Amino acid sequence: MNKLKIGVLVSGGGTNLQAIIDACREGNIPGEIAVVISNRKEAYALERAKKNKIEALYIDRKAFISNRDYAQRLAEEMDKRGVELVCLAGFLLLIDPFLIVKYKNKIMNIHPALLPAFGGKGMYGKNVHRAVLEYGCKVSGVTVHFINEKYDRGAIILQKTVNVLDNDTVDSLSSRILAEEHKIYVQAIRLFAEKKLDIKGRKVRIIDK
Ligand code: GRF
Repeated sequence: MNKLKIGVLVSGGGTNLQAIIDACREGNIPGEIAVVISNRKEAYALERAKKNKIEALYIDRKAFISNRDYAQRLAEEMDKRGVELVCLAGFLLLIDPFLIVKYKNKIMNIHPALLPAFGGKGMYGKNVHRAVLEYGCKVSGVTVHFINEKYDRGAIILQKTVNVLDNDTVDSLSSRILAEEHKIYVQAIRLFAEKKLDIKGRKVRIIDK
């Protein structure tokens, strides 16, 4: 079986990227990362890619007139390398409809909460965990989903709950959730690579082959 070619878009530290790199290397994902692209020059994720001999590109959004132009450039770089699945791993820019149409059901995102709760504009990073704690939730968790035209509203692939503890802080909750992110993202990508995701509308069924 040919290895699935994965493109990863990042903006930050890239611990999810690292989990994907490790899983590809250890054979837990039958795939390889063809390119890592960041919109931030100083993103540590780019270093992680380079250390693992993966092509790492910094492409600045500000160098383009519109979101669409930027999206086209990202697509060009990914096409050149035969990318079949795009993984957003802490990529903080809105995904332009051009990419959503081009890679329909082929762009995954990971969100550190149980969507549709605590998603949408402004809900990223620590903001999510702060909102969960302020609301007094007893559980939070992780969602891996495909991207559609609505922010954080694409079809859900996998979710995992994480209990909120009475003495949790933003940092303690986020670190327990991050540990689950690394496992569930790898699992979702593996299912995709093995063609075990049956997508009908917004329902994703896992095929038991
Ligand atoms: C993760 O919490 C992920 O859920 C969110 O952005 C964060 C990225 O972390 N989309 P990292 O850069 O993978 O460490």
